[in-house]
Amino acid sequence: MAESLNFRVGTKEEMYVALFPQIQALIADETDSVAVLSTISAALKECFGFFWVGFYLVKNETLVLGPFQGPVACLRIQKGRGVCGKSWENKETIVVADVNQFPGHIACSSLSKSEIVVPIIKNDVVIGVLDVDSDKLSSFDGIDANYLNQLCQWLSEKL
Ligand code: SME
Repeated sequence: MAESLNFRVGTKEEMYVALFPQIQALIADETDSVAVLSTISAALKECFGFFWVGFYLVKNETLVLGPFQGPVACLRIQKGRGVCGKSWENKETIVVADVNQFPGHIACSSLSKSEIVVPIIKNDVVIGVLDVDSDKLSSFDGIDANYLNQLCQWLSEKL
């Protein structure tokens, strides 16, 4: 049975360090991808209060919206389009301090101000992306990139 998450208030790094074992414990025995991705979205949103947290999964050469937490968002994104499509195309994490300065950014909500997108790579192929949006400018940095990359690497083994 799921238990409540236990959040330590501290630096961002300390919060990631405290949160990840809890996420891993929650979903360690779960093999269903919807259950796993939903739980990760909810845990990240609950812990950090991000504006939007969710997954887009590659299906028939398109990113299709998967489990997420936050306001409704675009359902499909083509390769190379927006931050998500660029992350997929380039197989790289993208940190955007100000979404209005990112050429081609797809604005699912005008409230979103900064964003990080991390590809989920399995056997050298991008199978989806984790997208996190903030309603504040410059919310994400190398610490988020580091920990969210670790999370997506671990996740790729489960999917
Ligand atoms: N902003 C993203 C689209 C997805 S939403 O932010 C949830 C992009 O430019 O790819």
